[in-house]
Amino acid sequence: MSDSIVSIRNISKHFGKVEALSDVSIDIQQGEIFALLGPSGCGKSTLLRVISGFESPSNGELLLDGKDMTKLAPNKRPVNMVFQSYAVFPNMSVEENVAYGLKMEKLPTKEISERVAKALEQVHLDSFAKRKPDQLSGGQRQRVALARALVKKPRVLLLDEPLSALDAKLRNAMRLELVKLQEAVGITFIIVTHDQSEAMAMADRIAILESGRLRQIATPAELYAHPVDVFVADFIGNINTFNVQQISTLVNGVTLHIDQLGIIEWYAALPETVKSEHNVGAKLCIRPEHVHLSTQQPCANSVGICGTLGDIAFHGLHSIAEIRLESGQSINAVIANEQALALSQVDKVVPVWAHWNINKMMLLPLNADHIS
Ligand SMILES: Nc1ncnc2c1ncn2[C@@H]1O[C@H](COP(=O)(O)OP(=O)(O)OP(=O)(O)O)[C@@H](O)[C@H]1O
Ligand SMILES: [Mg+2]
Repeated sequence: MSDSIVSIRNISKHFGKVEALSDVSIDIQQGEIFALLGPSGCGKSTLLRVISGFESPSNGELLLDGKDMTKLAPNKRPVNMVFQSYAVFPNMSVEENVAYGLKMEKLPTKEISERVAKALEQVHLDSFAKRKPDQLSGGQRQRVALARALVKKPRVLLLDEPLSALDAKLRNAMRLELVKLQEAVGITFIIVTHDQSEAMAMADRIAILESGRLRQIATPAELYAHPVDVFVADFIGNINTFNVQQISTLVNGVTLHIDQLGIIEWYAALPETVKSEHNVGAKLCIRPEHVHLSTQQPCANSVGICGTLGDIAFHGLHSIAEIRLESGQSINAVIANEQALALSQVDKVVPVWAHWNINKMMLLPLNADHIS
């Protein structure tokens, strides 16, 4: 891609027998907030460390601004890292912490103080310059770590789980602050997180990693609406799944034989990934917010299944109801709190239908064999 600032090309990294990264290629654009998202141990930090130069790849190339950086030392790269457990020097004041890297570079005192003042202003810590880290809140300490990285004027800022040490409420506030900061400074942010809501709220694009492999790169909305496989669909939000027994092609659609749901004629094109010969065990998926509940049989143009009401959990804006099926499986539905209240009066033995619009279904492979 023409204006990509970071090009990760076919990078693999082995630690002995562990393949932490396997043939990962990503192009990250100038000015993007790009998130690396995946479960613990999937290789996120390793990839960030390869970009920063703290780890060298077993195979592949890394380009920054079109220049090969694969063999360059970390301090020669135009990147800076904010670590998973942000370490600030406890015995130095806020401004001394921020100035430290510039002093190491032996820059003139005047330039150091100007750049430190600007960095502290950017993270709204200008009035805290003389304080020591133990006189700051967790969020403020995190901002010191950010200022320390920003003051070096990197082309790319690498952030490894930057908000994981903060409590839930502060984490939400800091998400917005980081996005605003990125807009103000205009540099590219690469953020590692295992929290899908954090990645969705902050990132322009997200790469999903699993066991060192890239599963999908897309915008948050695209990942949610068009996940390439069951893993991505389940990682980005919640899904109800049904096993697909057989798929037969019609002239302008498909006939699906689905566990528990029976035969469904679906006038939609079969996804490329499900057509693949290597694909085993496709699943029919439906997100809980698309599942409706009623005590009457739904109309003919929706797909549904009958069960009994299980637990209902209150989630503030809405409730999540569980419908227990005869097979032992459960389906979750997001419902309005008023309906939750009404359903809670219904006798537990009364049949309840879980049903959804056929066009809201997703037919997905367990494992997509290519990324989009
Ligand atoms: N220095 C190392 N030596 C050996 N194995 C390592 C080393 N660093 C990472 N690994 C292994 O590589 C894999 C990926 O690790 P990594 O730290 O990149 O995961 P992560 O996605 O950042 O996980 P988390 O969300 O828990 O931080 C893991 O299996 C890990 O045990
Ligand atoms: Mg990590």
